[in-house]
Amino acid sequence: MCSFKLIPGADNYAVMGNPVAHSKSPQIHDAFARQTGEPVVYQAIHVALDGFPAALDAFQEMGGKGLNITVPFKEAAWQASHVLTGRAQRARAVNTLWFDQSGRRHGDTTDGIGLIRDLTVNHDIQLSGKDVLVLGAGGAVRGILDPLFDQKPARVVIANRTVTRASELAGLFADRGKLAACGYEALRGQHFHIVINGTSASLQGTVPPLPDDLLLPASCCYDMMYAEIDTVFISWAKARGVARALDGIGMLVEQAAESFYIWRGVRPETRTVIAKLRKEVSRI
Ligand code: ATR
Repeated sequence: MCSFKLIPGADNYAVMGNPVAHSKSPQIHDAFARQTGEPVVYQAIHVALDGFPAALDAFQEMGGKGLNITVPFKEAAWQASHVLTGRAQRARAVNTLWFDQSGRRHGDTTDGIGLIRDLTVNHDIQLSGKDVLVLGAGGAVRGILDPLFDQKPARVVIANRTVTRASELAGLFADRGKLAACGYEALRGQHFHIVINGTSASLQGTVPPLPDDLLLPASCCYDMMYAEIDTVFISWAKARGVARALDGIGMLVEQAAESFYIWRGVRPETRTVIAKLRKEVSRI
């Protein structure tokens, strides 16, 4: 039994997740559709934890054009894809699906490129030649490493509470550039130009135990999460007087823009959408 319907006469897209009610993707894609004039309709579909393969089949059979996939189905979407981009292949995660004429499912992951575009285009922060610290070694971090190395940083360090997870991840991307893995304690005495928080610690209101001398005055801290008020990581960074402390709202809109571009071949303008979303999030 299907819990969703498609809208006739339009190109139907959706985000599938569980939970998904909080997702900002419908309003972001509505804004892109209005702005570009593309005949896109976009809905959020709540999928039972064991129901993803059936929901995907149903959406495709009903004539849906493409999907975004969020927690906890990104790996299942990766498995369900017949054709993967290189970055999705390595990330073992798919957040964007589309179907070709013979019904094959194509999968990509746009989270990493969303982060990079937010940093480099929206905030004019260049990663080339920089020392970059990435906190966390879960799926969120795995998804950003390929696009991060495309920017040619001087070195990347992955620090994680569970050091073995960081080491495993570093092993997978070792061919991409200078990459090391460690625990938080081992960061003592090291400095980084850019620190990206890809842990879910912010959700629990905590910051990984980072040494106080980690940052330089010109450092940039980026939290892949966002909230109506500063996340604890952003507050931690601001308290240490860093030049830039940025949250993940821009990344959210940029990953959506990349999906929209893949589906429609049109790149939407993102600045006004980010500004509007930021206003709304801080009003909640
Ligand atoms: P996701 O797909 O969002 O990355 P995940 O695979 O569960 O989710 O990974 C969560 C990440 O946040 C991990 O790096 C986790 O550290 P461990 O690998 O040691 O579990 C990290 N994390 C979660 N809560 C944390 C906390 N309170 N302090 C530090 N790191 C935390």
